[in-house]
Amino acid sequence: MPDAVTMDKIVSLARRRGFVFPSSEIYGGLGSSYDYGHYGVLLKENVKARWLEAMVRERDDIVALDSSIILHPRVWEVSGHVTGFHDPLVDCRFCKLRFRADQLDQAQCGAKPSKHPGGTDKCDLTEPRHFNLMFKTRIGPVEEAGLDAYLRPETAQGIFVNFKNVAQIARRKPPFGIAQIGKAFRNEITPGNFIFRTLEFEQMEMEYFVPPGEAAEWFRFWVEERLDWYLRLGIRRSHLRVREHEAEELAHYSSATSDIEYLYPIGWSELEGIAHRGDFDLQAHTEASGTKLEWVDSETGERYTPHVVEPAAGVNRSMLAFMIDAYDEEIVADRLRTVLRLHPQIAPVKVAVLPLIPRNEEIAGKARALYEELRHAVVAEYDDSGQIGRRYRRQDEIGTPYALTIDEQTLEDDTVTIRDRDSLAQERISISGARAFLLDRLAEDWKTPKSG
Ligand code: GAP
Repeated sequence: MPDAVTMDKIVSLARRRGFVFPSSEIYGGLGSSYDYGHYGVLLKENVKARWLEAMVRERDDIVALDSSIILHPRVWEVSGHVTGFHDPLVDCRFCKLRFRADQLDQAQCGAKPSKHPGGTDKCDLTEPRHFNLMFKTRIGPVEEAGLDAYLRPETAQGIFVNFKNVAQIARRKPPFGIAQIGKAFRNEITPGNFIFRTLEFEQMEMEYFVPPGEAAEWFRFWVEERLDWYLRLGIRRSHLRVREHEAEELAHYSSATSDIEYLYPIGWSELEGIAHRGDFDLQAHTEASGTKLEWVDSETGERYTPHVVEPAAGVNRSMLAFMIDAYDEEIVADRLRTVLRLHPQIAPVKVAVLPLIPRNEEIAGKARALYEELRHAVVAEYDDSGQIGRRYRRQDEIGTPYALTIDEQTLEDDTVTIRDRDSLAQERISISGARAFLLDRLAEDWKTPKSG
């Protein structure tokens, strides 16, 4: 069966089931801004937890950091963002819309019938102008006397300026890394394709500091490692690719970058970038601050400025890729079933507990007791509203891998039905063994049943 997913279907499911809402909707919404509801929060938390587990918890050579969103404004001058972090934009004098000059082929103009900007007789585009992507703010209560500052456009700089603190306290020798998850802000002017490109988003970035001669080797290592992370979490290999940047695409700090791209419904697009930043950042901050950001071997006295390899991923873009890759439709008993076949480790809710006849107090009591037991171990949901078929469909749409149903037979033999989201297979298991059974299942390797 061909892949049924479209961006519209994802947007509609995300809204219907409370993953993602347009921001400030009662005021007409705010372009490229979204709010995350209950299941969106749980899904994002799972993405971040899996990243931290792979990047920090399961490694000896990477430590965590949480730096401020507002840094000293000099950081952004020295990093090159004040002068170099911009998009080339063109305005259309006819339709008054603004477009990225390097992405005109992906945009639609405001004329009717709409074409790519510049494609109709009416289009009247200006020359490209540079537009800085950083959000400016002011520190201090008095507007005129305050200090201009920026909301960080990447979490990476907070890591570089803390290099000395962390290297000393963590007693790590290159190669070692510092990992950070946090919000970043960019004044994106182009339409966002849902949560693919937004004004504020979360990044998962790791700066890996290495001896200069080892950087090329570590760059290759991290491209493979990061690709593997998405595969382990169930994304189809056919929908992932690695693309090396052309020289003219490289960011001002990078000497080589490879993007891990996902085949979104809008086409192949960046999911994560792995950059070889050389010693650009540590050198620049050393020169400007007067603090030497270098590695010194206390025994041999050897000293050098490490080079940096940076895997930089987006939480929201990963979440979107996981949802798209998981989205499936099939006909079951003459009805369309929509299901998110998420990896169980990513799924917002791991198990639903469903009393078949909620009015039956004995059944409801047993179901409630089982739910109370399970929710100490995993994110569980108790649902007693509506027909059982509707309750299953609700859980399918949020990607819950297992549902446990308590019925009249439970009252006779203390067994429950466990239903598998993907195969729809049902089996009876003992209520006392349900927790162990579920935990075993959740720990098993999982591969998507989706083809392609
Ligand atoms: N420190 C390097 C850096 O920031 P980047 O490629 O600009 O590199 C890293 O950003 C990741 O952050 C991207 O691969 C993407 O997943 C995410 N990202 C960047 N801009 C975004 C935006 N406006 N909305 C959502 N995610 C974004």
